[in-house]
Order: sequence, then C-alpha cells, then structure tokens
Amino acid sequence: MKPLIAPSVLAANFANLQSEIQMINASEADWIHFDVMDGMFVPNISFGFPILEAVKQYAEKMLDVHLMIQEPERYIEAFKKSGADSITVHYEACTHLHRTIQQIKDAGCKAGVALNPHTPVQLLEDIITDVDLVLIMSVNPGFGGQKFIPNTYRKVEALKNLISARQAKALIEIDGGVNMSNAPELLQKGADALVAGNFVFSSPDPIRTIADLKQVSF
Ligand code: DX5
Ligand code: ZN
Repeated sequence: MKPLIAPSVLAANFANLQSEIQMINASEADWIHFDVMDGMFVPNISFGFPILEAVKQYAEKMLDVHLMIQEPERYIEAFKKSGADSITVHYEACTHLHRTIQQIKDAGCKAGVALNPHTPVQLLEDIITDVDLVLIMSVNPGFGGQKFIPNTYRKVEALKNLISARQAKALIEIDGGVNMSNAPELLQKGADALVAGNFVFSSPDPIRTIADLKQVSF
C-alpha cells in the first residue's frame, strides 16, 4: 500500500500561500497538514483560524489539523468551522482525552491523538479503538526542520502491535524530520501517513519530492 503524504503548511512560503496550496492540489499529496501552536504547549506560535480559512478556500485535499495547544477542547468547534477535516490533539495536553475525542467526532471531524517523543504508545491502550489516527512526533513539537529521532521506529512497531491486538482501525501518522532516508523503515514498521515540511518545501521541485515520497516502498 502506498503511504498517505501530508505536506506541512508550516514550511510553505506564507507570502504565496495560494500558490503553495495550488502546488499541493496539483501533486500526489493526500492531505494538507496544518500545525497550530499556542506558545504555551510548545515554545512557538504559528497560525490559527484566519489562515486556516484562507487555506480552506483553495484546498482540494483533506485538511489535517494538528493542535499543539493546551486544553484544545476550547477550540474544537471553531477549528471545524474554519475548515478542519481531521483534528489531532496531544495526549499531553488533554486531561479528559476520551471526552475530547468524542467532541471532535461530534463536530464531524476525524479524531486523532498525538504523542510527544517521550510518551509511550502503551498509554493509548484504552483509547486506541476510539481514534481514527495516532500521530507519532518524531521530533519535539514546536519547529519545522528538526532532526528525526530514531527511537520513533520502535514506537511505530509497538503501536502497530497495539492496533492489531485491539483490532483497532487507527492510522499511524509520522510527523517531524521525515525524508527519503527514514521513510522506508517507517513504512516497514507500519506507518500509514507521512508528514513532510522542509523536505518538500525546501526541495527544488516540491511536486517531484511529494511523488518520490508517495513511491517509497520497503
Ligand atoms: C512540528 C510540526 C511538524 C512540522 C514538520 O512541531 O508538528 O508538522 O511542520 O516539519 P519538518 O518536516 O520540517 O520536520
Ligand atoms: Zn505537525
């Protein structure tokens, strides 16, 4: 099976956002990854509702919204209204994760949970059958362009086992430092979707780079 590819808007040229989104539309990408940072959960601030609405105006692919914010339950309906198709919240940012996942589904979105590099996948045992996707952070969240953490391979394998053991349907998405050298092993361990920011947008031919990622096999 070919991986789902999700270019990350965080690495796009914001002064030419319309053409960047049109480039993704014209590519083999499956989703558009949208990173929201609040300067509290992560030490950086990115963008929010008005930019998501602007992206939505042109997007022809599913908008995969990754909330790196504290108490994301305060903003689920607002992100849905601004154009989110799927909403992923951090395990570390939710006191009542089960309730927040239901809230995302009630809003009509796919529901995801993200794990920081230090958070073990075993903590998902009692929520895995409720989520549509699990996002494994392969860098510490907050910035694009960081170096991939190799322990991610182990986590993907363990998560794949947990999903099989519970007969769950969650997809495994990898986010941070993804490129052609780590993609094959990530897929081999069980990853379904790959986020790529700098690897796509800093390449001389982003459409080609997306196509190359789509063709990765193991
Ligand atoms: C990091 C974000 C990532 C980021 C990935 O906190 O969650 O989605 O955009 O960018 P690269 O691929 O450059 O590491
Ligand atoms: Zn992200």
